[in-house]
Amino acid sequence: MNFHILTLFPDMVMQGLSQSIIGRAAERGLLSIEAVNIRDYTKDKHKKVDDYPYGGGAGMLMQAQPVYDAWKAVGDRIADRAQAISPQYAPNVCVTPQGGQAQDARKQTDQAALGRIRTVYVTPQGETFSQQKAKELAREEDVIFLCGHYEGIDERVLEEIVTDYISIGDYVLTGGELPAMVMIDAISRMVPGVLNNGESGETESFEGDLLEYPQYSRPEEWHGKSVPEVLLSGNRRMIDAWRRKAAEERTKERRPDLYQKYARGQACIAALEKQKLLHMDMIELLKRGQARILFAEGANICLQDKESGIYFHTAEDEQTGHQMLKVLGEDAAAEGRSYVQTAEMPEGGVADDAAQANIGAIVLHQEFMIEPVREQFGLTNTMPCSQVVYTKREKLPITGLYRADGRSDGELPVIRPLGMEHLDTVALHYHEIADRTYVAGRIAKRAMYGAFLGEELAGFVGMHTEGSIGMLHILPEYRGRKLGKALETYMINRCLERGYTPYGQVTAENGTSKKLQESLGLCCSKSQVYWLEREP
Ligand code: ADE
Repeated sequence: MNFHILTLFPDMVMQGLSQSIIGRAAERGLLSIEAVNIRDYTKDKHKKVDDYPYGGGAGMLMQAQPVYDAWKAVGDRIADRAQAISPQYAPNVCVTPQGGQAQDARKQTDQAALGRIRTVYVTPQGETFSQQKAKELAREEDVIFLCGHYEGIDERVLEEIVTDYISIGDYVLTGGELPAMVMIDAISRMVPGVLNNGESGETESFEGDLLEYPQYSRPEEWHGKSVPEVLLSGNRRMIDAWRRKAAEERTKERRPDLYQKYARGQACIAALEKQKLLHMDMIELLKRGQARILFAEGANICLQDKESGIYFHTAEDEQTGHQMLKVLGEDAAAEGRSYVQTAEMPEGGVADDAAQANIGAIVLHQEFMIEPVREQFGLTNTMPCSQVVYTKREKLPITGLYRADGRSDGELPVIRPLGMEHLDTVALHYHEIADRTYVAGRIAKRAMYGAFLGEELAGFVGMHTEGSIGMLHILPEYRGRKLGKALETYMINRCLERGYTPYGQVTAENGTSKKLQESLGLCCSKSQVYWLEREP
C-alpha cells in the first residue's frame, strides 16, 4: 500500500512515520510513504503558497494552484506506475495516456478525483475517523492525504480533488500532519503482514464492539497489586471467560454508546443460537464484529457483512420476511445514492436501480423467501447449501498431515499463505468462483493458503470474505495424499486460535467435501441456507 502526503512540513511527517512498526513495514516494502512538499509546486517566484481570503476574515488560505499541481504530480506518478505494472490490476487508477495531449491528461487525472484515487482532506469538518474507515482505506492501493494549514484551503481545489473529508475528532489542531499520521498508523496495521503476528489486529479494541480487556505482565505483584489469579491458572476457557467479562465491564463503564451496540448484537446472537447450525454464518459475522444490523425483532434478523456487502436474512414468517426485504431494499438504495458517480454506475441511473445494482448477494435461511427475493431483486441464481460447523474447542491433531515447522521433507506438505504468483494456478483449477479479482483480493488479504510439497503448490484453501472456510481444491496429480484433510485441519485450527467457530458451506452435490467434513467431526445443519446471486 502506498501513502502520499501533500504537506508544507514533509520532514515532520517522514520523521514521525519512519519509526517503530510503520517504519519497519516500510523498510520491508509492505508500505511506501512519501511526503510531497506543496511549496515545491508553487508558481510564485517568492515560493508563496498562501494568500488573503476574498471577503475578508482572519488568517491566510492555501491557494489552489500549488495544491492542485502537487496532487496532479502524485496522481500522474501513480497512473504511470500502475500502467507499468499491469493495466488490468489497476482498476482504481486512471491511466494518463503516454504522449497524449496535455488537455487529455488533465481530463483523465480530473476523472481520478471523481472517486478513483482516494484523496483524503484531513479537516475538523470531516466525518470522524474510525476503525471501520481504517479498514476500508486499507483496501486501497494508493491513498493521498492533503494536509491543510493556515485557515484552510481554497474551496475550488478541494471540490476537484478530494474524495473523503475526515477528522480525527472534535478539536482543532494547528495543521493536518498529525491527523494524517494518526490515520496512516491505523490504516497500516490493517495491511496484511504489517503486524508481526499476522493477526491484522482482528482481536482488539473496537472489534466486536468491545474495548480490549486489561492485560498484565511480570512481576506477579507490583505496588501491592496482584495479577488476577485466573490468568495464572493456564485454563484457557476460564481465561477467555474472564477476559470477555472484563471487556464487557470496561466497555459499559467507559463507552456506554459502544456497549449498547454490543448488547444489541448479543441479543441477536442469543436469538440465532436457537438454531445454531443453520445460523452459524450470521452468528460468526456478529461475533467477529463484521455485521451491520439492519433489522432485529426476535428471531427475525437482517444483517449486512461490512466486508463484502452481502446481506443475510432469516425470518420466522413470510410477512416479517417481506417487511425485512423492504428494509434491505431501502438500505441498498440509500447506499447506491451515496456513491460518487463512477464508471460502474450508469450516468444518472443510481437512484432507480440503486437497490438492485448494490445487492451482490442475499443469503436466505428459509426456502419460502426465495421467490420474493428473485422477483424483487432479480437475484435468480440460487445455490442451496448446508452449513458445516466444527463445534468443539479443541484443535485437531496434525500428526501425519503437515509440517508445522515449515520445513518441507518432500513427504508431508508445508502450509503457508499464497502469494499473487499463485493466482493463475488457483484460477486455472478452481472454477466455483469465476471472479478472478475476488481470488486476487483474498490472496492479498492473506486469506488463502497453499499446501506445498517442496516448491510445488499441490492444493489450496481459503477463508471467504464473510468468514466461511472454502475454496478447497487439490490439484489432480496430488490427490489421495490426505492434502484436503491437511488444509482443512490447518484452517480449522487457525480459526480456533483466533477465537472463531470454524464453519463452511457445502452444496448437496459436493459429496467429497461432505465426507471430509464428517471425518473431521464437523456437524451439518439439517435445513439449508440459500445463496441468491445475479446470473453470471
Ligand atoms: N486539522 C486540524 N484539526 C483537525 C482534526 N481534528 N482532524 C483532522 N484534521 C484536522
